[in-house]
Amino acid sequence: MAIEIIATGHYVPEKRVTNDELSWVIDTNDEWIRSHTGIGARHVAADDQATSDLAYNAAVEALRQLSPENPLEAAETLDLIVVCTSSPDFVGFPSVACVVQDKLGLKSTPAFDLIAACTGFVYALDAAAAMIQTGSRKRALVVGADVLTRITDWSDRGTCVLFGDAAGAVILERTDAPSAGPERRGLVQSILHAEGSGANELMCTRGGTRNPFKKGEIVDKTGYLYMNGRAVYTFAVKAFTDMIRELLDADGISIDQVAKIIPHQANERIIQAAAKRLGIEESKFYLNIAQYANTSNATIPVALDECARSGGLTKGDLIMTVGFGGGLTYGGNLIVW
Ligand code: COA
Repeated sequence: MAIEIIATGHYVPEKRVTNDELSWVIDTNDEWIRSHTGIGARHVAADDQATSDLAYNAAVEALRQLSPENPLEAAETLDLIVVCTSSPDFVGFPSVACVVQDKLGLKSTPAFDLIAACTGFVYALDAAAAMIQTGSRKRALVVGADVLTRITDWSDRGTCVLFGDAAGAVILERTDAPSAGPERRGLVQSILHAEGSGANELMCTRGGTRNPFKKGEIVDKTGYLYMNGRAVYTFAVKAFTDMIRELLDADGISIDQVAKIIPHQANERIIQAAAKRLGIEESKFYLNIAQYANTSNATIPVALDECARSGGLTKGDLIMTVGFGGGLTYGGNLIVW
């Protein structure tokens, strides 16, 4: 029995904001952003779009691969919906997954959100796979979606240039293919880690129960995403490097056996630094940060979908996802495509 990815999809909002356009409103410039991060542009959700709208669109694109004419008919075959997000439509509840379930026209399919910041998709694949491995469920929709531009402080040039909005989706299915041996298929290994002691380095500082908005308070910022850039950079390079080593060791393979690494993309320099430490060619990574910036939970599934649709993956390829982010969290999946 294997847990295979049988379909993928993604969605980015129409509005694209280049570095030059940002430099008209804040004290920054294209040269600084590109040379420090590799980012060239980002997409920004329309005022009437919330995270569930992006998630729904990505889900429909994935379902369209199963039923091109009527993707909503394919939705009826889902036994589970998991959405990972750092920017839900509502604080606490209802979950984005429940909103998506309703938009898909489903009546009782279990649906829940998972929070692991930018490592969310790596965690969600493992969680959904475990739930379809053991129970009566066969097929799961896993979506990574974020509208981080809405919780970003647009007066803070140290963070606002880094993020964009997007959603990516995959459909996981329990199949009869082998999960071990030379013919193995699907998700073969997931490693998840968290370092809660680093929670303060990357956090949403307001709006939750720790520091709620108070009656009469004048709110003078659009967002409350705080990041200690230097500390997160150091953590990310180590986490990224360690995770690739750990996945290779756990499976007893060498990097040459991995066809593609689909990484979380917060800053291209993080990936370059890790690649250099590990002696990995940069071409082994699928990168699209120049177009989308850091889209948090959406980065890995968007990159996976783009890579697959552009012919970058062949059936039987061994691929690796690597994520890191707030929490602090990090992790990775090994998947036979
Ligand atoms: N445009 C122009 N200048 C900027 C700028 C911007 N958007 N942002 C910062 N600067 C300036 C700073 O003010 C500082 O100027 P000063 O030396 O006069 O004080 C200078 O650039 C260097 O700032 P610094 O913060 O040291 O830059 P950096 O090289 O460390 O890069 C980050 C900053 C945020 C790009 C980098 O630390 C990073 O990528 N961190 C990890 C981010 C991450 O991974 N987050 C998400 C995890 S999921």
